[in-house]
Amino acid sequence: MMKLASSILWFLWGATAFASLDCPLQGNVVLTDGFSLSQVMNTEEQTVTVQLTYQGQGWIGMGFGTGMLNTVAVIGFPDENPALYTLGGYDRASVTELDDQSALRDRDFTQTETESILTFTLSLTENVGINLMAGEETSIIAAFGMSNTLDYHSFRTVQRVFFTECAGGMPTDSMATPAPVAGEDSMPSVESPVEAPVEAPVAAPVSAPVASDSAPAEGVISIGNGATLFTEANEEQGTIFFEIVYEGQGWIGFGVSPGQTMAGSEVIIGVPGSAVGPTNPGKYVLSSQSLAGVTLLPSEQQTLIDATIEQNETHTVLRYSKLMEEDGEFSLSADEPNPFVFATGISNALGNHNQRFTFSASVGGSASGFSSEPRRELWAAHGALMTIAWGILVPLAISCSLLRDLIPGPEGLWFRLHQFLNSLAITFTIVGFAIAVYAINDQSEGEPEHFDDSPKHKLIGLIIFILAVVQGLIAAFRPHLPKADKNEENVEQPKEKSTLRFIWEIKHRVVGFTLLGLSWYNVDSGLKLFADLFQEDDMGIVFWVVVGVISGLAILLFAFTKLRKSGD
Ligand code: HEM
Ligand SMILES: *[C@@H]1O[C@H](CO)[C@@H](O)[C@H](O)[C@H]1NC(C)=O
Repeated sequence: MMKLASSILWFLWGATAFASLDCPLQGNVVLTDGFSLSQVMNTEEQTVTVQLTYQGQGWIGMGFGTGMLNTVAVIGFPDENPALYTLGGYDRASVTELDDQSALRDRDFTQTETESILTFTLSLTENVGINLMAGEETSIIAAFGMSNTLDYHSFRTVQRVFFTECAGGMPTDSMATPAPVAGEDSMPSVESPVEAPVEAPVAAPVSAPVASDSAPAEGVISIGNGATLFTEANEEQGTIFFEIVYEGQGWIGFGVSPGQTMAGSEVIIGVPGSAVGPTNPGKYVLSSQSLAGVTLLPSEQQTLIDATIEQNETHTVLRYSKLMEEDGEFSLSADEPNPFVFATGISNALGNHNQRFTFSASVGGSASGFSSEPRRELWAAHGALMTIAWGILVPLAISCSLLRDLIPGPEGLWFRLHQFLNSLAITFTIVGFAIAVYAINDQSEGEPEHFDDSPKHKLIGLIIFILAVVQGLIAAFRPHLPKADKNEENVEQPKEKSTLRFIWEIKHRVVGFTLLGLSWYNVDSGLKLFADLFQEDDMGIVFWVVVGVISGLAILLFAFTKLRKSGD
């Protein structure tokens, strides 16, 4: 009761203090539902008076500028006089009261159970970075807090507002006239109450994140199922501010992932429900896909600035600023796109995730190249088929051809073996190729990136696939050897080969060995990709040993047959 009474007294005092001005406040610009602004400029006294009304309890701040950083703002909260502050950063410590408060001519903050009002008059002749002209649009930033303690804002906006002039005494009914505002049709005013969510005007030159999902703002990008990201660089401090809002309840992981998976990445994980503090949210490295591979970095590397994890019944929000350059860590770029990884948990307990995406995004920009989790079983099948085909089947098929004289059994057995092994290899290649294309489609959100040349594996893989199929088809319809005449006695004596047959044989050999070289390269690079993707051992050595043994033996035996022949 006492509190209410004193609030009312405060309110009355505030109202009378500013009622004494000869210029009544004008306009009522709705910044968002339940947050509005009135203003007036006194050109005689070179001042501007602004009143911000918030239908709730919390601190209120407003400044002139296009972004939060390095802007001077008036901030008010109960039991203290509103004052001018410089907004040096996103953490509370970087918001510092100005030494020189002389630009602030009049100030008041009143609060009732349901309403908070900040009113102030600023001198326009004092140098606090305000460049205001009556009748012209000016960018302002405005915010209110989730509580009366000056901390993270629950709403903030950048908007352009017309400041109107008063040269002593204005008709009182002008108080209700809304000031013309950029993007007015998207902004409901008091006179035309519209249910539609308020959107930051497009004219605002700097993206304005809004921590409320009813008002998506520029610069906030969608990064997953019910999740958005806002980033802003502070070049001066060399940091990037991150805000991840997840429409759900669960832990949030966000970080840098130069690979395509969570494994091998450096992430920040926030665990809601646990106390915020050292070190939640914390910096982790992920050495594998499993929980066992999630390692909290030692405390000297826990350098996040102002990291918080918050949760209500519907949303979980992770915020932090991180240095762009840190020893032994992937660096972040303020200009170039960064490779990010994002995941949310099925619950608050750090464990399985319900979504996981890698993508690239530039700070304050958009995101692209979304990729969900690569499926290990698909890539293992692709790799196994390709390795068997090109590491075992094709080398054996070629050996059969080279060592035909050594192969016992009925005549032409070498050829049937060669044909069978190669057909099997081509079949494996077609199936393995289809699995790769399917897997790429499966893990891409939006436009899949097939056969792009990063890594080269994909492009070379496509070339191998085409060459192998064409080689197989041409071989099936090859120009045949001239048939030995059945009537003739001497079947031992083959007839002359046709020119076409001769050309085909050369082509078949050249393409065959080219394919072998390309495919060995690709198996090796594929095994590396697989190892990177799933943080497993690179099986390249095993492949080269198998290939080496088969080829070595074949070459030795081939040399032996040639020597024996020349010895005859
Ligand atoms: C001659 C052998 C191989 C051929 C012809 C081949 C072919 C291909 C092709 C065409 C793609 C891209 C599919 C697309 O973009 O839609 C691909 C991707 C891939 N292959 Fe192979 N591959 C071979 C061997 C291997 C091996 C042995 C592995 C080991 C597991 C492997 C692992 C992968 C992986 C992980 C990708 C995905 C690359 C990425 O996401 O950037 N490949 N392969
Ligand atoms: C929960 O938090 C989100 C994000 O900050 C906010 O948009 C939403 O209004 C909050 N909901 C409640 C019920 O407080």
